[in-house]
Amino acid sequence: MRSKLVAGNWKSNGDLAANEALLGHIRAAAADLQGATCAVCVPYPYLFQARQVLADSTVAWGGQDVSQFGAGAYTGAVTAVMLREFGCRYVLVGHSERRSIYGETNDVVAAKFGAALQAGLTPILCVGETLQERETGAMEQVIAAQLDAVIETKGVAALGSAVVAYEPVWAIGTGKTATPQQAQAAHAFIRARIATHDAALASNLVILYGGSVKAANAGELFAMSDIDGGLIGGAALLAEEFMAICRAAERKQQAPVQV
Ligand code: PGA
Repeated sequence: MRSKLVAGNWKSNGDLAANEALLGHIRAAAADLQGATCAVCVPYPYLFQARQVLADSTVAWGGQDVSQFGAGAYTGAVTAVMLREFGCRYVLVGHSERRSIYGETNDVVAAKFGAALQAGLTPILCVGETLQERETGAMEQVIAAQLDAVIETKGVAALGSAVVAYEPVWAIGTGKTATPQQAQAAHAFIRARIATHDAALASNLVILYGGSVKAANAGELFAMSDIDGGLIGGAALLAEEFMAICRAAERKQQAPVQV
């Protein structure tokens, strides 16, 4: 059975005092989570603080982006090895904000994915379509291209050490969540696409849903058969709300709902 994961994506939010309270709350509340892992992806400067507060806890932490390069003359870039040194287990790659605001192509994302893996991090590969792509019927084609860029350059086996996050761009930060059926259909497509290369790997792959997940809708999303947890933006900044989402993932483990 696939394990459940709920990862918070803080984006460019936080300060030392607020983080201290939020991380402390998560650390304490996550201690008795059953069958679900909880993680936080924090801005780079706060990785040191995350490690300090979360060390020896059940909560994992990670970065939100990584350089596709190693050490060297790459001003502003943070390498995968640096993230490892700060205890990161995870790193987001190809988040839609990186793709749309910073122009990251599928090839750049694949290179970042490879750099993360090489350093022993678990990349969380974000894929998803814009509203226009959905409305013009290009959703599957877009997601397939995002997946294929990684599979073709790194090999399908690389996905065996990764997590995929399906995040429809139109649902991110908009309050407009995909319905459980819409999300399930996309997740099933992703799993089937990867299964054409390696069925066993695909059936073990953890696929998260992201896009306006909150405590009120997490349960019905996580109850879908191909949804293995969530990537949480805005709601990850609210301690009680985030932990309620983590507990929704836990409940699914105890009472799986078949669709
Ligand atoms: P949101 O963001 O939960 O605020 O929609 C999700 C994400 O961007 O990962």
